Amino acid sequence: MSRRLRAGLVGFGFISQNGHTPAYLERRDTVGDIDIVAVADICEARRRLAQELIPGVRVYPDHESMISAEAGRLDFVDIATPPSDHPRIAHAAFDAGLHVLCEKPMATTDADARSMLEHARRARRVLFPVHNYKHAPVVKAIRNALNTHPIGKIQLVTLATYRTTHAKGVPEWRPDWRRERRYSGGGIAMDHGAHTFYLAFDWLGAYPLAVSATAATIGDYDTESTISCNLRMPTGTVVASLTWNAGFRKVIYTIHGERGGIRVEDDELEVTTILGPNGASGPQTRSERFVVPSLWKDASHRAWFNSLFDEFKAAIDRNDFVGRDAIDAYMCVRTITSAYASAQSGSREIPTVADAGLALQGTA
Ligand SMILES: NC(=O)c1ccc[n+]([C@@H]2O[C@H](COP(=O)([O-])OP(=O)(O)OC[C@H]3O[C@@H](n4cnc5c(N)ncnc54)[C@H](O)[C@@H]3O)[C@@H](O)[C@H]2O)c1
Repeated sequence: MSRRLRAGLVGFGFISQNGHTPAYLERRDTVGDIDIVAVADICEARRRLAQELIPGVRVYPDHESMISAEAGRLDFVDIATPPSDHPRIAHAAFDAGLHVLCEKPMATTDADARSMLEHARRARRVLFPVHNYKHAPVVKAIRNALNTHPIGKIQLVTLATYRTTHAKGVPEWRPDWRRERRYSGGGIAMDHGAHTFYLAFDWLGAYPLAVSATAATIGDYDTESTISCNLRMPTGTVVASLTWNAGFRKVIYTIHGERGGIRVEDDELEVTTILGPNGASGPQTRSERFVVPSLWKDASHRAWFNSLFDEFKAAIDRNDFVGRDAIDAYMCVRTITSAYASAQSGSREIPTVADAGLALQGTA
């Protein structure tokens, strides 16, 4: 049997209760490589619920008391608080010699995200972001299609995320923290942009050179509800739009290459191949359509968690302290904060990789 990892959860809210914990409990009883030892949450009602749902778990009112009382009894900390607290919890975990699995966005500022990467390298502990959209079956099918049905050199990627409202946190704490900048660091770009950007980085195989954006807010909030971004990539363009003001909930992704394209709308995947040269009405094409059930409507994305946890475990086994996903997470934060800087300066193009060198250095 593989090594059993002992987890301390920090923040027992929506995603921890409905996404991470059920996946861990199932895995504990099947694969047998994980135990939830402790939970820290600042809200008493959430600590009580954790004790009901995870028999025998020890609970703490904050991450400091958990990390100190559980010294020697934890292997990693799973951070699922609002993003403004991710960095200080990660630093405390690294100081105690623990690995870190961290919800997105990894941090809300470039400097905080960078300091997390640097600390993981110094502490020789793994920092791994919950970039779970990469583990959605339809997104895995896109990767497979890109590997096996070449559409040629990719020149353009578009990603649209439509939501009818911001996601709500658990009612016992602050359900609308996503609309309070001091907890969230921003609006839909901070909340959802990571998913958009790490997918784009993967499909174009690069990080952006520069970003320009416009943002808008409906309602009396200090965080944006709609954003449109253009990313100038070394070999193409990314056009991303995200909104909490949509009339329906859906993701629509398109990937355009020299010899065809891919379109995804939730579970539907269409791969189009160009068969010959352009005629009067464009080239002849062949399209194949697939349905890849991916449970997009389940916002906990519990079904995708196991595959992600396998990668976290593998990174621990390989001593891959700051791997590709962690660097993607840093570049997501950098892209989002650059998009905000652009939106605040009349959509001026903001360079994104010019001085990112330190964070992008090799891993171990
Ligand atoms: N990857 C995904 O698909 C996905 C989906 C939902 C949420 N998330 C992320 O998960 C994180 C939490 O989101 P949520 O929807 O579960 O929020 P939530 O409001 O439901 O839960 C947050 C919990 O953290 C607790 N908390 C707040 N500050 C704390 C602190 N400093 N220490 C300990 N506990 C603290 C609150 O009491 C609450 O129980 C965010 O980073 C969010 O972006 C990711």
